[in-house]
Formats: sequence, structure tokens, C-alpha cells
Amino acid sequence: MSASSSLSSQCLKIGIVGFGSFGQFLAKTMVKQGHAMRATSRTDHSKICNHLGISFFIDARAFLEADNDVILICTSILSLSGVLQALPLECLKRRTLFVDVLSVKEYPRNFLLQFLPEEMDVLCTHPMFGPDSGRDGWKDLAFVYERVRVRDEIICSSFLHIFQSEGCRMVEMSCEEHDKVAANSQFLTHIIGRVFSEMDIKSTPINTKSFETLFQLSETVANNSFDLFSGLFIHNRFAKQELENLEHALEKVKQKLLEKMNEEQNL
Ligand SMILES: NC(=O)c1ccc[n+]([C@@H]2O[C@H](COP(=O)([O-])OP(=O)(O)OC[C@H]3O[C@@H](n4cnc5c(N)ncnc54)[C@H](OP(=O)(O)O)[C@@H]3O)[C@@H](O)[C@H]2O)c1
Repeated sequence: MSASSSLSSQCLKIGIVGFGSFGQFLAKTMVKQGHAMRATSRTDHSKICNHLGISFFIDARAFLEADNDVILICTSILSLSGVLQALPLECLKRRTLFVDVLSVKEYPRNFLLQFLPEEMDVLCTHPMFGPDSGRDGWKDLAFVYERVRVRDEIICSSFLHIFQSEGCRMVEMSCEEHDKVAANSQFLTHIIGRVFSEMDIKSTPINTKSFETLFQLSETVANNSFDLFSGLFIHNRFAKQELENLEHALEKVKQKLLEKMNEEQNL
């Protein structure tokens, strides 16, 4: 792990694949910084794109022929392979930097290395924030990345500079290490939030600060799609163990309480 220091910057032509909630969130800052933005997606997002000054392509072929420096993959984890397999990659005229922002990292890394032509560069990233937590800016929010296969350093540095210049905490970390750490932190956070949501926990007139935090967590997590949540589980090989650890821990805590109750009743 190391913080990235001086990254060079230039205006980039960035094509986003998957213009859902997170793709739109990232695009707004990239437009603000002066990058030329294009997008393609399953759904017709041309109206919002017009509003943001982004060219929207229904036709994936025209999108790939638009001379992008960077192709930024913002599709759901579950749709990654289908979306990429549907792209006519033979239309790419030159080396392009493929960047993904999926919330799991080993899976897209392996897929991109296996699927993309060898001459394409690959940068795997995970901005550790979203439309809620990054609403008021990205300062001090973590941005994790691994330079998986990078030969055009200028394009790669310019892309990383987008996040560095917004004040992100740049964390260079292998995809494997990311998935280990994220299963133990992000995935558990989502599970706890989902459990609260499932229990339909309501705000009360006597909320403690701690309850307030948990209640907000359940609301934030429920704002993410179920595709994102299930992707964190299905495509992170460390997540299953964390779910089992959580089940065991809940059972242990319950046992301790029951034992104490028995002790008190037998006094
Ligand atoms: N939200 C966050 O806070 C956050 C933070 C960091 C990273 N990420 C990552 O960013 C990516 C996007 O996240 P998200 O929050 O926007 O929600 P998401 O539900 O994970 O992904 C939505 C995107 O996936 C596309 N998509 C879903 N199913 C598809 C299918 N069968 N075929 C083609 N496209 C499909 C949608 O396209 P259409 O819009 O065209 O339907 C949309 O662009 C995910 O990989 C997620 O892990 C999200």
C-alpha cells in the first residue's frame, strides 16, 4: 500500500460504459474538470447526458469508434461479463486504457486480462464512496487502485489525477488485498445495514447517537441496488467466510446472554 504523489494531468476523452447512478455521479466531476465525456448504456440515458453536456451513444460501435483515451466501466458487478462480451472491440483503433470501478476487484481484473486484447491497458479501481458519502465532495475519501497492465503512463496518471485533485486519499493496493479487506469491512457493513432494513427498523423519538448511526447505515445501504449488494457476495471469494463469521458471532453473543440469564435465575 502506498500513497500516490505527483500525477501528471491532461484533459482526457473518457467513454463510460454503464451510465447508472454511479456512472452519472463520477461523470459530473469529470465534466466539471473539463474532460470530454461520452457514455453508452443498456438504458437510453440521452436526456440526462444532454443536460450534463455528455455525448450519449445507443450504438456501442459508434461509441468505441469515438477515439476514447479511457473506457470507464461502471456496469453492475453481475452484468460485467455480458456487457463486455457484447462490445465490438474490433472497432478500437488504438491502445485504450480500460478502467473499472467495480466494488470487487479480483473478478474484473481476471476477466479484463482474459477478455481484452493484449494491447489494451488495464487499471482496476474502487472509489470507496458513492453518491451519498461523496455528495459534498471527495476530499479525504479513499480511492483504491492497482495498475494491472499500464504502458501509457501519461494517460493512466492523468486519469488518477482526476481523483487526486479532488483530494481523494490515493491507496495503491493489489486486487486480492482489496477483496480481503473489503469483505471484512464494506461487505459486513452492507450486511448489517441490510439486516436492519429487513427488520424494518424505524427511527424513534428516543434515538441514541449509536442507534442514529445504525439507522442511517440501513438507509444508505438500502439506497444501493440489490445487484451491487449481491455482487459483493458472489464475486468476492472472501465474503462467504465473513458471512459465516457473522453468523457464528451472533450465535456466540446469544449463548453468552442466555448463560448469564440462567446464572441470575439460579441465584
Ligand atoms: N454506488 C456506489 O456507491 C458505488 C461505489 C463504488 C463503486 N461502485 C460500482 O459501480 C458500478 C455501478 O454501480 P451503481 O451504483 O450504478 O449500481 P449497479 O446496480 O451496481 O449498476 C448499475 C449499472 O449497471 C448497468 N446494468 C445492470 N444490469 C445490466 C445488464 N443486465 N445489462 C447491461 N447493463 C446492466 C446499468 O445500466 P442501465 O443504467 O443502462 O440500466 C447501470 O449502468 C458497480 O460495479 C458498483 O460496484 C458503486
